Amino acid sequence: MNLISIAIDGPAGAGKSTIAKRIAEIMNLLYIDTGAMYRAITLKLLNKNISFADKKMIEKILKNTKIQFINNCIFLDGINVNEEIRKPMINENVSKIAALPFVRERLVKLQRDIAKNNNVIMDGRDIGTRVLPDAKYKFFLTASINERAKRRFMELKEKGYDYSYDEIVKEITNRDKMDSERAFDPLKKAEDAILIDTTGKDIDEVINIILSKIRKIN
Ligand code: DC
Repeated sequence: MNLISIAIDGPAGAGKSTIAKRIAEIMNLLYIDTGAMYRAITLKLLNKNISFADKKMIEKILKNTKIQFINNCIFLDGINVNEEIRKPMINENVSKIAALPFVRERLVKLQRDIAKNNNVIMDGRDIGTRVLPDAKYKFFLTASINERAKRRFMELKEKGYDYSYDEIVKEITNRDKMDSERAFDPLKKAEDAILIDTTGKDIDEVINIILSKIRKIN
């Protein structure tokens, strides 16, 4: 059986997850938000007050951690943490955890195992380059920093967080810098990925571009 794999990569706030979720519905694919997996590990380490420098302890915790997706929600050790992993505290720390090679190794294996058994659309930073380098469909979504910060600002405001626009620009810029400059599997467009700049485009427009590219590749 030939399974479908679609890779969607790009910086924070480029619209990856909203778009991937919608395409999953349209094409009847399993949607995997790999950023949520790094966020869930970060949440667990913060809750347990583990130093990010304590490699041995983090490795031990990773071995005893269960991450599952049920109905597009992420469960950490059996508990739905879908809301909690979006908190600003996680935004501020997740890139440090995502830079640790042994954390990536573990999560990449989990992500590949899911793609081995399902038709998937996965979004993240290294899906096209590392997790699914043989995926038939690869997209890299970007948008200007102003547009990405504006989207994040609205999202946080809706959730009741009072962050200034400038604070958000700073947070996204820092995270993108760390994600792009880390030594292991940094945020990078795969050579064979299709680049889509979503600045000024609404969600339906981007979805239609992606669907028409997929039809052309087929
Ligand atoms: O997509 P997101 O903003 O929820 O991702 C949170 C962080 O996780 C992001 O700043 C970098 C990291 N990440 C990663 O390193 N590799 C992935 N495949 C997905 C996310």
